[in-house]
Amino acid sequence: MRMTVVGCGYLGAVHAAAMASIGHEVVGIDVDERKIEELRQGRAPFFEPGLQEILTAGLESGRLSFSTDFAAAAGSRVHFIAVGTPQSADGGAADLRYVNAAIEALLPHLAEGDIVAGKSTVPVGTAAGLAEIVAPSGAVLVWNPEFLREGWAVEDTIHPDRLVVGVPAGEAGEAAADVLREVFRPAVENDTPFIVTDYATAELVKVAANAFLATKISFINAMAEIAEVTGADVVQLADAIGHDARIGRRFLGAGIGFGGGCLPKDIRAFSARAEELGRGESVAFLREVDAINLRRRDRVVELAAEALGGDPAGKRIAVLGASFKPHSDDVRDSPALDIAAKLHEAGADVVVTDPQAIENARRVRPELSYSESLDETLADASLVIVVTEWDEYRRELDPERAGGLVQGRTVIDGRNCLDPARWRAAGWTYTGMGRP
Ligand code: UDX
Repeated sequence: MRMTVVGCGYLGAVHAAAMASIGHEVVGIDVDERKIEELRQGRAPFFEPGLQEILTAGLESGRLSFSTDFAAAAGSRVHFIAVGTPQSADGGAADLRYVNAAIEALLPHLAEGDIVAGKSTVPVGTAAGLAEIVAPSGAVLVWNPEFLREGWAVEDTIHPDRLVVGVPAGEAGEAAADVLREVFRPAVENDTPFIVTDYATAELVKVAANAFLATKISFINAMAEIAEVTGADVVQLADAIGHDARIGRRFLGAGIGFGGGCLPKDIRAFSARAEELGRGESVAFLREVDAINLRRRDRVVELAAEALGGDPAGKRIAVLGASFKPHSDDVRDSPALDIAAKLHEAGADVVVTDPQAIENARRVRPELSYSESLDETLADASLVIVVTEWDEYRRELDPERAGGLVQGRTVIDGRNCLDPARWRAAGWTYTGMGRP
């Protein structure tokens, strides 16, 4: 099937390449000429496992192309909208200017029977408004939220755990759902749940899922706060409650909390939208979820000061990790970088390392010092803080060898990803998050 993907950022670039990899003819459109040129050259604009391979294969097959000209959309059966919905400058609400601009630019190229499939995360109620704008063209609007995780984006797009499509009532909606079934045929044939619903539910499924995940993380981090004053171990607690299938162990990783381009902004946008709808109290707990999350960053700074005799000023601190999670070079709202910046502000001599994210980190936090080399980062440090659980630190870093490089064998494990027994056996003072 021929299709358009408007917006070639994180979501769009992956979606376009993934759709080509399952056999569709895809044109990716973006207003950013530099981005389109990079993609045309076959260079993945960010680090995402598997993306480079499917991008190259797509271009070589001739099924994948990129353009800055919306006229390239003409002739596609489905037009996906995958532009960003950032947090607006004046508060938590989602900024819809890119979604609106994408629809406006597409309009002259739409034909009767085309499908416009929104993927961007939008406030509930947006799709109904857009449907009215699209209607005169004869195209049908559907909402098809995306649940991909960074680091697994290609895998999640090709093998999603569910597909959700919000459609208008009536025959046109049913026919549109059938076209989407055809788009995702390999997954549908693989028994992936395919949920056809109304616009509002489809929009809400996405924000509800992210709100739930964020709540789960903040719940366990709240337990970590209690564990810290009682001497309990939040990791054992998470293991124990996680055995209850109704609770489940995943997303009960206590540590420095969540970051990234989705969870933080999505819960804030959800709160803002609920307020607009007069139902702010229904999701008032999300403000608490956000607050708990941000407190964990301050807790690390507090622990660092304690470990350094009360004042980090002038002390060398090795910060291992900059990305908001491993297998990603994304530093958007990264708790890791935020902690590094707070320590720097407190006067510490901070050196940050990361296997993938240094270039992005430098752009966001130019005031910090960076090193590509883990050994160089550890050299003469009085304190080591692990803030992103890359395998390089979690598994491969030998506490004995690291101990030979640093000045003081003190480590704060912001992700509870190291083996405390192993580090203590090598003479380190180990501090985890919510652990005795
Ligand atoms: C998230 C959702 O998982 C995905 O479905 C949605 O489409 C986009 O937002 P992503 O932002 O890629 O995906 O990251 P995710 O893997 O969910 O992790 C988010 C943050 O939570 C990371 O900073 C991670 O370190 C943190 N986290 C995750 C924890 O602190 N503890 C956990 O147990 C799990």
